[in-house]
Amino acid sequence: MAETDSRHPLRELSARFSLPLVGDTLAFVRDPAGFLQKRAREMGPVFRIDVFGAPTACFVGPEAFALLLDDKNVARAGANPPHVEELFNPEAVPFLDGEKQRRRKRLLMRAFTADALDEYLPTIEEVVDRYANRWAGLRRFKWVPELNAMGFAIAGSLFTGVDAQAGDARIEAAFDRFAAGILSLPLRLPFTTFTRALRARAFLLGLIDRAIDAHERSPRKDVLSRLLAARDGGDRLSRDEVRIETFHFFGAYAAVIGGLSFLAQCLGRYPEIRARARDEIRRQTPSGPLDMAAIQKLDYLDRVCKESRRVAPVLPITFFGKVVRECSFDGVRIPVGHKAVGCIGPTLLDGGIYPDPGRFDPDRWLSASDRQQKAWIPHGGGIHAEGHRCAGEALATLMLKVFAVRMLRRFDWSVENQDLSPTRGKLFATPASGLEVELAQV
Ligand code: HEM
Repeated sequence: MAETDSRHPLRELSARFSLPLVGDTLAFVRDPAGFLQKRAREMGPVFRIDVFGAPTACFVGPEAFALLLDDKNVARAGANPPHVEELFNPEAVPFLDGEKQRRRKRLLMRAFTADALDEYLPTIEEVVDRYANRWAGLRRFKWVPELNAMGFAIAGSLFTGVDAQAGDARIEAAFDRFAAGILSLPLRLPFTTFTRALRARAFLLGLIDRAIDAHERSPRKDVLSRLLAARDGGDRLSRDEVRIETFHFFGAYAAVIGGLSFLAQCLGRYPEIRARARDEIRRQTPSGPLDMAAIQKLDYLDRVCKESRRVAPVLPITFFGKVVRECSFDGVRIPVGHKAVGCIGPTLLDGGIYPDPGRFDPDRWLSASDRQQKAWIPHGGGIHAEGHRCAGEALATLMLKVFAVRMLRRFDWSVENQDLSPTRGKLFATPASGLEVELAQV
């Protein structure tokens, strides 16, 4: 990895033939994860694809990722498809650079400290238990839509103060319409997917606005109150920044649903791993309300949750950036002006990094090398406070653990005879079958 050295001639990024005008866009949109996985296998750690009208440098593996993470090489502003920026808001943190991004991120991270997570824990538990009670009364059912409802119920409580016992089904429905807009054609005609996504966004921003008013009048123990109270010296987030980022946090919950459903799937496939995790939970946690100290003792569950996010990547890529300084990787030139994207799925499933990459093996993390740790990028790479790594990683990890603890204490389940491959044609993957299960009390 280096800036260009003119003494050594560089090779151009390799690419496959693609159709004029549309390039690789159709193949990419049809199955983003499968498409990139195939290209990465064929072409190695850096290669070019042509999507959304732009040549795009793709980066696989921790070494190539390091180049992408350096914001002197790759900037975010204006790099993502315009309709994606419009849906999230061009002023949202994934699209910011330099000090503007770092300032925003420092303030956002105030909502994800250890103290903050401790405050959110009872809400997460309450919603998970409410859904567990519901599932106990069902026979065979599809878990993915249920997890979607549960995930958005938690998001509604933490981000807008919705009652944890009641929930608000309109939020889930609106976000489903919003998420469909991300991979749609941005046609502003009545009844198109994109127009419906914009309407869903307007509805949700209205909810967030009213929640901000209510939280300003009486603060609560939730993410929104933490964002409103966040201070960095004398600096604070403006009302508009809180609104933009809260909306993006809701959007991020689509990834949480994937994380929860693949965790449930991995546990359902391996009885011996379920039994070992359950045994640890029974030894280390109380049967009543959980506390952070008990959760931190769950070393095996920590590895299970980490490995489930590796073996079943939810997101195939990071947000897009654009190359602003020519650089090179392994003798290949990365030209200024190309778009740039980190390949998450192909890195997490790279056999050169993780031997037998398709095997769900939580204990691989007992002796993981530095390179394997660096390649664990389901939430993006780098450092939270200084780069674009996911702000909600610790919250997502906590949700996965609370879900696993409450489920394994009460239930056993298996996931045989169904299509467990990831959904195609969606940016946020979940198990294709919808994960049919029947929960048995233990
Ligand atoms: C399993 C669940 C999740 C996964 C797999 C995930 C993954 C990711 C990924 C891949 C990125 C992009 C990194 C990049 O572009 O370089 C990201 C960014 C981000 N995520 Fe998450 N995420 C999850 C949950 C959450 C949650 C629950 C929240 C908020 C409550 C959240 C907030 C964010 C924010 C604010 C960013 C942008 C950070 C920045 O650009 O500085 N995420 N996440």
